[in-house]
Amino acid sequence: MGLPGCRFIYLPKITDPRGNLTFIEGANHVPFDIKRVYYLYDVPGGAERGGHAHKELQQFMIAMSGSFDVVLDDGSNKQRFHLNRSYYGLYIANMVWREMDNFSSGSVCMVLASEKFDETDYYRDYKEFLKATKQ
Ligand code: TYD
Repeated sequence: MGLPGCRFIYLPKITDPRGNLTFIEGANHVPFDIKRVYYLYDVPGGAERGGHAHKELQQFMIAMSGSFDVVLDDGSNKQRFHLNRSYYGLYIANMVWREMDNFSSGSVCMVLASEKFDETDYYRDYKEFLKATKQ
């Protein structure tokens, strides 16, 4: 079973012998206004990131360089996604637990977010997250 709402989104790609170009417009190519951008880089081999869910935040994740996996879990279903190109990304709805692993060396994960940083929006305890999904 898949996760309703979470999906790959393919972005416009302007191919050119001088190098390709991809662009992203908030509320157009991603289903939210972009309020924040952050990125993970210099990730050591074998590292795992994530391990949380968000109450309201929506995100869109792109492998700007290299590759990594994202495991999504909405409390009922779990699915592993592989990201390895900069012309598509993974849309992650709110109330979805995510874990990231298998980072290739030199990989860069860029994340577009629907809200500014807010620690109170996080579920960092899996049991607490599961309880919230059953309510
Ligand atoms: P976290 O979201 O747990 O990282 P990841 O999901 O990639 O493993 O964030 C790690 C730390 O960075 C945590 O202390 C919060 C801080 N942080 C900010 O201050 N601002 C931000 O925009 C983000 C994403 C994290």
